[in-house]
Amino acid sequence: MRASELGINDIGIAVDTGPVPPDDRIDALTEAAYRRALEHAEGSVADYIPILAAVDPEGFGICVADVNGGVHEVGDTRLTFSIQSISKAFVYALLCDTVGHEAVFDMVGVNNTGLAFNSVVAIELNDGHPMNPMVNAGALATTALMPGGGAAEKWDAVRTGLSRFAGRELRVDEEVYRSEAATNHRNRAIAQLLESYGRIQTDPLDVVDVYTKQCALLVDAHDLAVMASTLADGGVNPVTGEKVVSAEVCRDTLAVMAASGLYERSGEWLFEIGLPGKSGVAGGLITVAPGKVGIGAYAPRLDSAGNSVRGQVATAYLSRALGLNIFASDSHFSGRTNE
Ligand code: DON
Repeated sequence: MRASELGINDIGIAVDTGPVPPDDRIDALTEAAYRRALEHAEGSVADYIPILAAVDPEGFGICVADVNGGVHEVGDTRLTFSIQSISKAFVYALLCDTVGHEAVFDMVGVNNTGLAFNSVVAIELNDGHPMNPMVNAGALATTALMPGGGAAEKWDAVRTGLSRFAGRELRVDEEVYRSEAATNHRNRAIAQLLESYGRIQTDPLDVVDVYTKQCALLVDAHDLAVMASTLADGGVNPVTGEKVVSAEVCRDTLAVMAASGLYERSGEWLFEIGLPGKSGVAGGLITVAPGKVGIGAYAPRLDSAGNSVRGQVATAYLSRALGLNIFASDSHFSGRTNE
């Protein structure tokens, strides 16, 4: 979405390269971001996973978790939904923490496809390379590489790892899992295609099953903000104090999210919001301001690439108003005289 569509052209470019803003300022701006985004009713809820079509389109919550452990939330921040593609960022981080930077670079890749998240063409155009962990092909390759000899161990590593990011035990929404498992023919095709290229070395249908369960993990906007703030805080969950992954892994994960987290709209997102983000097709959206805050949003109406519309609007407002854009700077001479 463009700045004009996001409604942020009236907000000056605030530049804040310092520490997290004070609590009352984050509270006030989170409330303002919520009000602005509430005016947007465009987009539609996902329906290619049948159960997702039944959701209330008006559910909307926004939560900012700062690296000091402060939480600022407005709206339906405790309404649960399936994490879907947002899981990809965290499974990728867990894998990087296990096998390291070089190996994940080679096996999964870091470049945007410029194509839809479930594109088969992207795999063929790239000689079977999954390209990046944020599209389905790369996410399936990532899940396949998770530690454990079989599907049960891999699933355990995924579920317990994501729970550590959230700071609580996450569980699967069985209805969402069953609905997606009954209709995910395309993901099965992608996994089998990757197997044919030697990119998945384990049973591809087992991998799809673990991936489908990871996408069906139930979270709320508050959980997403805490998970995102763990990536903002060098891998330490600011609420529980637990070290989940290394600071290097956070840096790598955020770089990949910046390049591909909003799929073929990642360039627009970076241009307007200037922060790494990751969307999910159930309406979740995370955004990370390194060293400062994690933002979790939920609003199920999506743009045509599968990204939450209200989530983008609220986050764009916060990025501008809190001065979070990582590309914005002031001249270091400002405020000084040149005597
Ligand atoms: O594999 C799928 O199609 C879903 N489980 C996840 C897709 C998704 O969240 C795309 N995001 N916007």
